Amino acid sequence: MVTGGAGFIGSHVVRLFVNKYPGYLIVNADALTYAGNLENLKDVEQASNYRFERADITDAARIDALFEQYAFDAVIHLAAESHVDRSIIDPLAFVKTNVLGTATLLNSSRKYWAKTESKMEGKRFYHVSTDEVYGSLGEEGFFTEETSYDPRSPYSASKASSDHLVSAWYHTYGLPVVMSNCSNNYGSYHFPEKLIPLMINNIKNNKSLPVYGKGENVRDWLFVEDHARAIDVIFHKGKTGDKYNIGGFNEWTNIDLVHLLCKIMDSKLGRAEGTSAKLITYVTDRPGHDLRYAIDATKLNKELGWEPSLQFEEGLEKTVDWYLQNEDWVKHVTSGDYQHYYEEQYARR
Ligand code: NAD
Ligand code: TYD
Repeated sequence: MVTGGAGFIGSHVVRLFVNKYPGYLIVNADALTYAGNLENLKDVEQASNYRFERADITDAARIDALFEQYAFDAVIHLAAESHVDRSIIDPLAFVKTNVLGTATLLNSSRKYWAKTESKMEGKRFYHVSTDEVYGSLGEEGFFTEETSYDPRSPYSASKASSDHLVSAWYHTYGLPVVMSNCSNNYGSYHFPEKLIPLMINNIKNNKSLPVYGKGENVRDWLFVEDHARAIDVIFHKGKTGDKYNIGGFNEWTNIDLVHLLCKIMDSKLGRAEGTSAKLITYVTDRPGHDLRYAIDATKLNKELGWEPSLQFEEGLEKTVDWYLQNEDWVKHVTSGDYQHYYEEQYARR
């Protein structure tokens, strides 16, 4: 079972696993919130080793029933509320899905596997988490697997809680867990409320480009397909009970990144260089805005041999091309509730 498989990263994980492992039956369990879109998986929906089940991970009876129906021997858990700005507006939705939902999945997995003949043998619960649980860095240093948790936003606090629950189920019940904490992802099928797809969309439509504060915050960007490859490696080879940091060794201030996007878009759209950058607007900062994230992914590289495959400029250009070629997808996901949310957010700034 892959939870959250209709979302941004989940859809890349489902696609990779369905194509690479014809012998696995991949069941995508997703509630299809505003962020879940089955269009993301059009190319694999007919595959014989793929099923979709609409399910809310906080619904214990539904999750138990899915375990009975499919006898899962592994869970890759990605379902979450994932956007920091939304978590500031509606924190309880994050506590519900990210904390209660994770506890519900852990509990159903434990109960079901304890009933099987082989108990926990050969089973795996993989929890996908974020580097934001570590808090905010100053100008120096990196997050390692030993860095203390210090979450600052309702989103990161809810993810930190879920990480602790996973660890508790490992130590208390012997659930065979593995976990990873990844830096910011970018790529195709990224919901256009997050920085990179939002900027691409706004540049395309000549709308202003809202940069929070002074644009000096730093993020470490990783191409989403490289994250999916890391999940594949950790799922198959990671040590039970361990956690792995995943990152791109690729730090950018927001303002430099937005300028780079403007430059790429000017060239793709045949605009004179400097045209799109005129759309940049500095807006009120995000409350509690973490200054800098940077991952030390040495453990994953040394122990399991993973490294990012793409240079940032190359990945960014691929991403821009994808958004320009998939305008229908953008139109579909930016209709309805998202529009109201965007207008509210933007009007407030
Ligand atoms: P996303 O918001 O694009 O997708 C989340 C998916 O979860 C959607 O398909 C949604 O329908 C589903 N979902 C939400 N609530 C649910 C519920 N109660 N029951 C079942 N399904 C539900 O998120 P994403 O960016 O793909 O992130 C996936 C995971 O990776 C999350 O756990 C996130 O914390 C983690 N992560 C994300 C990033 C990033 O840069 N996006 C980085 C590191 C870790
Ligand atoms: P985001 O994509 O929301 O990811 P996260 O907050 O999880 O890192 O934001 C990335 C960075 O971009 C973050 O520092 C906030 C900033 N940002 C803007 O400046 N303007 C925007 O419109 C958005 C969505 C984000």
